[in-house]
Amino acid sequence: MRFTRRAAIAVVGVAALLTASACGSSDDGGDGGSGSKKVEVFTWWADGGEKAGLDGLVAQFGKDCAGQEFVNGAVAGGAGANAKQVLASRLQQKDPPDTFQAHAGAELGDYINAGQVEDLSADYDTWGLKTAFPQGLIQNLTVDGKIYSVPANIHRANVVWTNKKVVADAGITSDPTDLASFIADLDKVKAKGIAAPLAIGKDWTQLMLFESVLITDLGADKFTGLWNGKTDWNSAEVTKGINDFKTLLTYTNKDRDALDWTDAEKLVMDGKAAYQLMGDWEAADLDAKKFADYAWFTFPGNGTTFQWLADSFVLPTGAKNAEGTKCWLKTVGSADGQKAFNTKKGSIPARTDAVPADYPKYQQAAMADWKSATQVPSCAHGSACTQGWQGAANSALGAFSSNQDVAGLQKALAAAASQFVKK
Ligand code: GAL
Repeated sequence: MRFTRRAAIAVVGVAALLTASACGSSDDGGDGGSGSKKVEVFTWWADGGEKAGLDGLVAQFGKDCAGQEFVNGAVAGGAGANAKQVLASRLQQKDPPDTFQAHAGAELGDYINAGQVEDLSADYDTWGLKTAFPQGLIQNLTVDGKIYSVPANIHRANVVWTNKKVVADAGITSDPTDLASFIADLDKVKAKGIAAPLAIGKDWTQLMLFESVLITDLGADKFTGLWNGKTDWNSAEVTKGINDFKTLLTYTNKDRDALDWTDAEKLVMDGKAAYQLMGDWEAADLDAKKFADYAWFTFPGNGTTFQWLADSFVLPTGAKNAEGTKCWLKTVGSADGQKAFNTKKGSIPARTDAVPADYPKYQQAAMADWKSATQVPSCAHGSACTQGWQGAANSALGAFSSNQDVAGLQKALAAAASQFVKK
């Protein structure tokens, strides 16, 4: 993964020493003396394909970690909209779960900088993870020579999901490859009486659509530059992106600000919309809901760009059952754990040793794309931006949804960038 150029000086020996002292001495059984055998796993995977993925992982944990008990700490709400708030207050009160879900990249950096997660470098060595994951991912996860989380997967964000029947009924026979042809297709669906052919939900789902439009209008390199300070948010290309996004919003459902991603997905399943831009957890969710009449394409104009994000798990500072958490983390990083999880979650394994034939059709295609694609990170899902930046972007998009003020959105996004970009 190319977006971070953080110095990745792996001082493994030193890191190992630090880990040993940070994670409790050997005579407390690794549970900090609490005696707990419960492992509270905090996620936002409460339903559908997300829950199915978690269940797969839990089943593997049951086999690998006899004597430890999984406790489900899930807080429902797409993209962690609710979970992240609950987690923040628990961390502040020094009441962490035994492990929590955090996006690899800038979002994880928030927890690292706050001293809320432990260094896992020595465990990476013990579990052979440094060679199991691609070097780009290892580099991305490494901060000052240390690694603080175990990635469960790689998700792709820039995918459009379709209701095949609705699309066919509109006489559309091929996938659009640029914005003009996408808009022409949206018009064709609209002409069939579908008022809002492009289903969408609230703020973060709008940020996802907007990011996809920016990838089209700026190209992969300049898009990545928006998050590392190399691309100016005040440029004419960004203005064009906002205008294109505004045009696309005219094809979306008016109640968008009240909907989560699964509500928008239902519009597609019910034939009330033809398309939805969403990450590939949607493949798993449609499968879990037994809706088979779907297809997908990369967002028009994104070419071979793969907008990635990765769910990873951490050992929080002060976790009650560090030993049990480490067993969970080992399972998350293992070949069996990644298979149990990703075959049900729509994502592809972060490990390089997975066998494509073990996976459903969508993931097989994603695995092939991942190998050859140009990778860009996602702000809506924390690989590109910190949580502060993400919050500012979500609220700017939320405001734009009602006021449609192009200059206002650009100004807000430029201000967020200058406040949050890593200097
Ligand atoms: C993302 C997360 C995915 C999926 C999605 C929708 O942030 O990485 O695993 O859960 O939110 O809730």
